[in-house]
Amino acid sequence: MSADDLKQTFRQHSQAALTLNIGFIGVVNGLFSALYGLETATAEALAAAAACDAGYVRRWCDAAYAFGYLEVEGELFHLTPAGAAMRPEAPDSLMPLAVQSVLSAHMAERAAGLMPGGERPGERVLGERETVLPWFGPMLEANFAAFFENTVYPAVPDFAEVNARGGLAVDLGCGNGWYLRALARRGQTLRGLGIDGFADNIAHAAALARREGLEGRLTFRQGDIHDLTLDEPADLIAMNRALHHVWEKDTQTLFAWLRGNLKPAGRVVIWEPAWPDERAALRDPSRRGMAFQNLTEHVQGNHFLRPEEIEAAFRAAGMAATVHLFAKGNEAVIVARRYETDGA
Ligand SMILES: C[S@@+](CC[C@H](N)C(=O)[O-])C[C@H]1O[C@@H](n2cnc3c(N)ncnc32)[C@H](O)[C@@H]1O
Repeated sequence: MSADDLKQTFRQHSQAALTLNIGFIGVVNGLFSALYGLETATAEALAAAAACDAGYVRRWCDAAYAFGYLEVEGELFHLTPAGAAMRPEAPDSLMPLAVQSVLSAHMAERAAGLMPGGERPGERVLGERETVLPWFGPMLEANFAAFFENTVYPAVPDFAEVNARGGLAVDLGCGNGWYLRALARRGQTLRGLGIDGFADNIAHAAALARREGLEGRLTFRQGDIHDLTLDEPADLIAMNRALHHVWEKDTQTLFAWLRGNLKPAGRVVIWEPAWPDERAALRDPSRRGMAFQNLTEHVQGNHFLRPEEIEAAFRAAGMAATVHLFAKGNEAVIVARRYETDGA
């Protein structure tokens, strides 16, 4: 590839990033949703509807028009299909891509600054951008809730078994609580307890459960996975994209806790990105995001795990585990149960 071709390719990369940045600004300020409601509007009318400053919105409209989110007739803007798809409430919304892009830029900047000294400040780095943090939960929900319902749940019979039995499902590192809401919708006698370290996540999770009328069965509380006491043993303990957050601290104690807090017929279900065995596999476009994220996870004191490592940790804790792979092997759901003969 010539130097000119390289430059051209990287200009295209840069434009793709800018497209998502403009999208993020519109998402966070409700501009796509407001314009959808108005159908057509001047920048000033859009600013008024979204309760934003007219000067900023006028500049944003120019940029959103340039990047193909808006069309204009005279001074009246309306959404293109791309603009309509960026609404957080749109089916298959593009919102998570925009949020991920800006979050990635933030984490890249932190990794760049921290690399010489090697400091790993931990989870708090995720909360440093006040416009990003409230979108973290919706981003994960938009990325994974439908995939869970349509693909993971039907392929893992343990979910239906636990749902049929009812009882208590505990979600460690529950984020905005989408997973417990999904389980509770299917299992009418299932109760849920969600635990998360961020108070904001707990508040969002409780509000979303209330909105669906599930507050009688779902409870959320702030807590540290490393220091938890349950009032009763659980039928299901789930960790979705949360295990790698706590793995480096003390895996042995954590897995003993999981086993000790499970009813005899209960299950632990871990869902994690599946780190590949071979570095060459990271070149696949479907894994590049994972490779980038693993660098930024390092900032938080985490790293991604190979499914076999999780399986081995269960075995060491006296549990039998089954690995289910999805999405070209990039998503691993590991289900573990206490050995049959184990009455302890
Ligand atoms: C990648 S998010 C996944 C959230 C949610 N499970 C989902 O799938 O949408 C990881 C979550 O684990 C939580 N977390 C990380 N370490 C924790 C700890 N030690 N105690 C409690 N929660 C923790 C974070 O606050 C965050 O909400």
